[in-house]
Amino acid sequence: EQNHRESLMIVSGFAAKFFHESLLDTDEGQSIGLSYFKERGFNSETIKKFELGYSPDQWEAFTGEAVKQGYKEEFLVESGLSVKRDNGSLYDRYRGRVMFPIHSFTGRVIAFGGRTLKTDKNVPKYVNSPESEIYHKSNVLYGLYFAKRAIREEDNCYLVEGYADVISVHQAGIENVVASSGTSLTVEQIRLIGRLTKNITILYDGDAAGIKASLRGLDMILEEGLNVKVVLFPDGHDPDSFVQKFGTNAFKTHVDQNKKDFILYKTDMLLKDAGNDPIKKAEVIREIVESIAKIPDSIKASVFIQECSRILQIEERSLNTELNKMRQAKA
Ligand code: CTP
Ligand code: MN
Ligand code: MN
Ligand code: MN
Ligand code: MN
Repeated sequence: EQNHRESLMIVSGFAAKFFHESLLDTDEGQSIGLSYFKERGFNSETIKKFELGYSPDQWEAFTGEAVKQGYKEEFLVESGLSVKRDNGSLYDRYRGRVMFPIHSFTGRVIAFGGRTLKTDKNVPKYVNSPESEIYHKSNVLYGLYFAKRAIREEDNCYLVEGYADVISVHQAGIENVVASSGTSLTVEQIRLIGRLTKNITILYDGDAAGIKASLRGLDMILEEGLNVKVVLFPDGHDPDSFVQKFGTNAFKTHVDQNKKDFILYKTDMLLKDAGNDPIKKAEVIREIVESIAKIPDSIKASVFIQECSRILQIEERSLNTELNKMRQAKA
């Protein structure tokens, strides 16, 4: 079992090296992959640090080299790097894509995300590794290996949506950043962060999907007993596009000025939809108290009740009545 896992990590490490060298040392890699990364504003140091790569636009470039070097079919297929045809032959899963290796907590390559360079809507933007003995995506945060020291030092973790967000924010000197890439945030991922800090700041994309995901993430984080703040980006922007377009200082200012604790954020979001309708407003209040009811620490919860009372102009007493009802319903 241990050998099996080790073999999968060895072949993944080999693949990362293959894709990285193909990016830096081949004509195709340089003219297509490297120029793409440079256009996105990723510098050489960043490309090296994150071991970014390029998969040649051929059917068997990687698989052929791997087989030649003695890597076993079993591990090539299980890692998802190669795919088996009905006739038993293998072909490359990643072709003509820029490659983002995903590292374990200790820095081993365990999976990949490959981004298409095509703008064709029918081509999936990212192709990711399948689940395997070494890659359970619900237990992995992209960038955590590079972020863990800074997360402890800053006592805060920025949570973003995607690979490029992690890389650009990190390159801007803000290194305490990770992404839940490709899955909605899981309890396991929150617990991973919780071992390093109790403070999470969500920086999701400024679109409807990002807002929805952030509201869902909020409640899960609260239930795990962590503190959570949210920063929204202007519609159409994500942390990557924002920091690349406006620069590090503007990014930091934006984060500082728009950081909201979860009560304020959720209230804002929900009240926007409710307008002046008293029935809808009552529903908003219930939803917020429901979130507060998830906070395990009762002192912390009562601080939020006070804040909620102030923002919504509702008596604390009635909020507390509601809170107690929910707590009892839960118990
Ligand atoms: N994702 C995925 N498969 C897709 C689309 C998205 O796995 N077809 C994951 C990727 O990890 C991606 C993240 O969800 O990084 C966020 O998606 P999105 O915001 O659509 O992509 P970006 O990260 O902004 O991609 P880019 O900036 O490269 O266009
Ligand atoms: Mn097992
Ligand atoms: Mn998005
Ligand atoms: Mn993006
Ligand atoms: Mn995005």
